[in-house]
Amino acid sequence: MSAVHYSVEQFTAFLTVDNPPVNAISHSVRQGLADGITAAQKDERVKSIVIHCAGRSFMAGADIKEFGKPPQEPHLPDVCHHIEACNKPVIAVIHGVALGGGLEIALGAHYRIADESAQLGLPEVNLGLIPGAGGTQRTPRLIGVEAATDLITSGKPIRADKALTLGLIDAVVEGALKKAALKFAHSVQEKEIPKPYAQKPAIPSETFFEDTRRLLSKRKKGFEAPQACINAVEAASTLSFMDGMKRERELFIECRNSSQSAAQRHMFFAERESLKVEDVPRETSAYPIKSVAIIGAGTMGAGIAIAFLDKGMPVILKEVSEEALKAGINRVEMNYAQQVKKGRLSEAMKDSRLALLKGSIDYGDLSDVDLVIEAAFEKMDIKKLIFAELDKAVKKTCILATNTSYLDVNEIAESVSNPKNVIGLHFFSPANIMKLLEIVRGKATSIETLNTALQLCKKIGKVGVVSGVCFGFIGNRMFQHYQREVGLLMIEGATPWQIDQALTKYGMPMGPCAVADLAGLDIGYFTRQSLSDDQYEAKAFLLHDRLVEMDRKGQKTGAGFYDYADRQGSPSAMVENMLSEISQELGIERRAVSEAEIVERTIDALICSGSEILSEGIAARSSDIDVVYCNGYGFPRWRGGPMHYATHHGKAIIRARIEGYAEKFGNRWWRVSDWLKD
Ligand code: 3HC
Repeated sequence: MSAVHYSVEQFTAFLTVDNPPVNAISHSVRQGLADGITAAQKDERVKSIVIHCAGRSFMAGADIKEFGKPPQEPHLPDVCHHIEACNKPVIAVIHGVALGGGLEIALGAHYRIADESAQLGLPEVNLGLIPGAGGTQRTPRLIGVEAATDLITSGKPIRADKALTLGLIDAVVEGALKKAALKFAHSVQEKEIPKPYAQKPAIPSETFFEDTRRLLSKRKKGFEAPQACINAVEAASTLSFMDGMKRERELFIECRNSSQSAAQRHMFFAERESLKVEDVPRETSAYPIKSVAIIGAGTMGAGIAIAFLDKGMPVILKEVSEEALKAGINRVEMNYAQQVKKGRLSEAMKDSRLALLKGSIDYGDLSDVDLVIEAAFEKMDIKKLIFAELDKAVKKTCILATNTSYLDVNEIAESVSNPKNVIGLHFFSPANIMKLLEIVRGKATSIETLNTALQLCKKIGKVGVVSGVCFGFIGNRMFQHYQREVGLLMIEGATPWQIDQALTKYGMPMGPCAVADLAGLDIGYFTRQSLSDDQYEAKAFLLHDRLVEMDRKGQKTGAGFYDYADRQGSPSAMVENMLSEISQELGIERRAVSEAEIVERTIDALICSGSEILSEGIAARSSDIDVVYCNGYGFPRWRGGPMHYATHHGKAIIRARIEGYAEKFGNRWWRVSDWLKD
């Protein structure tokens, strides 16, 4: 059955695309549109043609699921040409989103009108692609090189009013869209068909393309697609339209076949998959969450509060004393004041958000909230006391969440009378900025509580992953293994700056030692004090611990692995000497460690512990682990997360390396689990 319906009303042919849920342009849509245009051209009743969509939006782009399969004619650029070449006026009528190929179809039409809520964009760059159906050639000719470059390289959609100002669309219409479409179609049916793409667009300045390339190589470090986008837009300003289209096609195919695009497409689907839980069917009920209380107003608690306030949800911040509460409220206020100062938020918005914030030092004030998130000190005794207090204070349906990053959620749940309502909600710092939310499912957590957390996660704009209970859950458990290899490589001969350089070259935004300095070396120090010997490799953290004991706690004390005369930091001769001493104490002869070894051992450590987590059922799918690492730990998205990287690189190669490490270092940490054998 065709995904495009053809009907005629008042001299106007309506081509209605109906391909739920988002009208992705799959083969049947392309064929249906091409056939519809041909039919309307021949249809003597028809004077103009409307392309519009059923359902919640206009077309959201090419069908990404078809990428990687053999391409089927008609190809999207040909459909756009066919629309453009039509001798009757074609109007794209947009509601919801018009993205990627969807916008490119609209650009092939002779006119575009949209309702007020519409959003238009070319997000291909987020999938490691460039717009490949004329988007890079038509957009600069229509709205100018600068605005087009912004739209194409940022991938961010714009609202209908901005699209109108830029000249991307011809009108924003109010009221019933079909009526408005007919009115517009009648107004243009006798007019000459516009030809806006004949002229090459002007170049904003001689150095525009070079400057933009440089800027993008910093802002989107490691990503290939933004550079390809610029090359394609440059072609629009130097080549004829048809030659520009050829160049765009070459660049598009290059990107589509690249490992980066495969990785970014993998992430797109992985992030949508991660909120689907096998035993939580769609019809599972969820509790309404209209108000939240947060226990602990430190950096984490305040960040979580902002994440909810930003979505218009009332928040009670609970502390133990007036003094601590004042400091916590101040953290939230300062954050909003900074946002106003940077022009990211208006005074009025700031005031409306702060009006939703209340402070309290009394559990009695939490009797009516729907959700409590505990973000107190990371100690089991403290958490248990808090949960016991909450058990007495909150209503029966209230969800009780802990933000613990390591501790046993099952043990915490034992402190309350209704453990079904207990769950882990592990935010990442700064909680109002970082996208990741680890949703930790305890053994007693009910599917309703879990579903409530899944719904909430979407509502507050986070990318959620469900984890089972284990020490550190998915992310921190793996991170500990990564850090252990960093520590061991240091005592074997590598320096912190050598390690940081190797891993930033691999694509991490910061090296592990610079990250530790930024977060504060004392954070890990206190956690390690509570660990038993079988939970970590103590010698790998000797340098970390000694630095803390010398008050070299990282950036905040002006020194850590690095010396900080400025924020950049510089290598420390003293740390290098300390490392030599530690190696000597341990009887290890220092050796030259190559960049390749640094990358292999640290990334293999992530993969090794990730595959163990999978085998134990802590994560449901390997792609969930990729979602955690790309959204919470800065793993390069263009590599698609550690598990995708392992699959792409070859599990057999990694397995062989792990077997080699096990032989050399023992099998305490290095074990080949089922996922790697598969
Ligand atoms: N192709 C195939 N499936 C798509 C799709 C696409 N372009 N866009 C969304 N979907 C699917 C999702 O995978 C999801 O499937 P599921 O229910 O089985 O998990 C379903 O549609 C709903 O998507 P979301 O959960 O993301 O729904 P939202 O309402 O939150 O968001 C959206 C809707 C804003 C359209 C968002 O899905 C989105 O950003 N989609 C991608 C848009 C995009 O990147 N377009 C460019 C494609 S590449 C292209 O056009 C190349 C061309 O230049 C040649």
